[in-house]
Amino acid sequence: MPLIPGMDRIAYGGDYNPEQWPEEVWTADVALMREAGVNLVSLGIFAWAMLEPAPGEYEFGWLDRNLALLHDAGIAVDLATPTAAPPPWFRHRHPDSAPVTREGVRLGGGGRQSFCPSSPAYAAASAGITEQLARRYADHPALVLWHSHNEYGGVNAFCYCETSAAAFRNWLRDRYGDLGKLNEAWGSTFWSHRFGDWDEIEPPIITATTANPAHELDFFRFSSDAHLANFRRERDILHRLSPGVPVTTNFMLANCKNIDYWKWGAEVDVVSNDHYLQAERADNHIELAMCADLTRSVAHGRPWLLMEHSTNAVNWQPRNLAKGPGEMRRNSMQHLARGADGILFFQWRASRFGAEKFHSAMLPHGGTGTRTWRDVVALGASLGDLAELRDSRVTAEVALLWDWESWWGLELPWRPSQELSFRERQEAFYEPLWRAHRTVDFAHPEAALGAYPLVVAPSSYLLTPGAADNLRSYVDAGGTLLVSYFSGIVDAHDAVHPGGYPGALRDLLGLGVEEFEPLAAGRTVRLDDGRTADAWAERLELRGATALASYADGPAAGLPAITRHEYGKGQAFYVSTRLSGAGTAALLATVSAAAGLPAPVDLPASLEIVRRHSAGQEYLIAINHGQQDVVVPGDGVDLLTGDPVADGLPVPAGSVRVMRRGSR
Ligand code: GAL
Repeated sequence: MPLIPGMDRIAYGGDYNPEQWPEEVWTADVALMREAGVNLVSLGIFAWAMLEPAPGEYEFGWLDRNLALLHDAGIAVDLATPTAAPPPWFRHRHPDSAPVTREGVRLGGGGRQSFCPSSPAYAAASAGITEQLARRYADHPALVLWHSHNEYGGVNAFCYCETSAAAFRNWLRDRYGDLGKLNEAWGSTFWSHRFGDWDEIEPPIITATTANPAHELDFFRFSSDAHLANFRRERDILHRLSPGVPVTTNFMLANCKNIDYWKWGAEVDVVSNDHYLQAERADNHIELAMCADLTRSVAHGRPWLLMEHSTNAVNWQPRNLAKGPGEMRRNSMQHLARGADGILFFQWRASRFGAEKFHSAMLPHGGTGTRTWRDVVALGASLGDLAELRDSRVTAEVALLWDWESWWGLELPWRPSQELSFRERQEAFYEPLWRAHRTVDFAHPEAALGAYPLVVAPSSYLLTPGAADNLRSYVDAGGTLLVSYFSGIVDAHDAVHPGGYPGALRDLLGLGVEEFEPLAAGRTVRLDDGRTADAWAERLELRGATALASYADGPAAGLPAITRHEYGKGQAFYVSTRLSGAGTAALLATVSAAAGLPAPVDLPASLEIVRRHSAGQEYLIAINHGQQDVVVPGDGVDLLTGDPVADGLPVPAGSVRVMRRGSR
């Protein structure tokens, strides 16, 4: 099954905003799109005011003409519902639909997503324009995909207005049914928080001190669900009126804490993601790889669409560094290597006006005489050579547990240390695996794990009893698990699992944590095997596990720091401190070997290698992020040149190669 029915190539293109340009420009747009190999554009994402200039009055003529031009040029369309940017008339008519911050400030218009996610007026207006678009364009021959909204929850993730408060109470009623159950789940005997009536419950607005963490967690869940309800409404209209055309919405995986994308992944027909490099960050291509792997995981291994990235600089970081030579190509191919069957950008043509005019585009202000344009054309040609990779799959050998609920919980206020960071721990384990050329999936703690020789739980703070059972079964059946500190501490309501830390995992790990020993800023500790660590230590008590390394100094001196426990047919490792990068890499090498993973390939760490498989075929994508030319062993066909590869695949510094393995 192709990712998008009707697309017989790797999708290539970007957000297209023809409404910002006079129609004369459109003809040039389409001619240049063809030159660049563009075959898919996302159209009309922010065009609500041009499509419905006044409530119930529609102007579709310009969109009809633009769609016809695109279709005549053979360019397919991912048609957006423009509901991420309600027009000024909407706000004017429904002033109470504007979102309210935690501090009680009602936000103004003039930006985007300036609506309360629970607003009935917004629900009606967004359903209205969605229905009009679906009726008019359901059978349009250019239409291959619907693009609902844009980055749900991007800037209006939470709203604390009266409407949201009422919706939150309804959501809680559905979840708990009975107020007594809510009081129990929220531990509301603490600080006299016991509710006697549903109407006493507010969203967790700003308070004199920190709020009830269980209350906070449910507000996260409610807010993610409020946006999901908006998505479902649009999706259901589109499915009803435009059957057979898949519906997507662009996620912001890994960089958006506020949306529970495991839940959302099951709701879209096509998983698509937006990714922007953190320009000033060293090795930001590793962060990119992590986000791409997370996207594939949310798509349950199926191909996905990179809906947005940038050809060059963005405009919203403190210093918007331009991409270096070949960087955009490497970035694009990384996404492709990790399962994307389409590479799109924000945006096609750089805007002349508005807030994003200094954001790069496929066609920059400088036009076709620019490096960016030449790179865009070259990438389009290369993707044209890679059509046979479509629908091939990536197989991972390691799973990292990733759970948005645990992210929410871990970073609530009043934790033992402000050094506890969800993303930091994920990246701490992802990076050395990347450098060791291991392919990684991400998995929800309650998901099936049996396919992975190795599973890593990086500070899985919130673990339900079901998740703990899942991990026990995984190890019992022969799996190898590595658990990092502050895992398995609380349940879904942020209540500590009874019986001592780490409550959910004590028997599996064969130990108890008597006390946490967070370290002062800048303080390091040494282990007796020479490793160093910082941020965190623990006083461990072994109850079946054996120590692999102990603390040589610091508050837990003499006590075990890293342990291993045999459990059923498998083994569970535990690391109770924040090891240095080198220490984490060495630990991962140990547990990888213990899990029976093959020895890492002997290639430079800066060379990224990923394999995609389809029936009987293997594709090797090699991306050289380093300064040295590399030769990757193997033979086959270089798909970008068509040349046979007999004696290893040369991958010059900074370049990308894609090889079909073997001779076919
Ligand atoms: C995305 C957004 C786009 C554009 C882009 C700029 O988050 O979806 O519309 O604003 O950022 O980098």
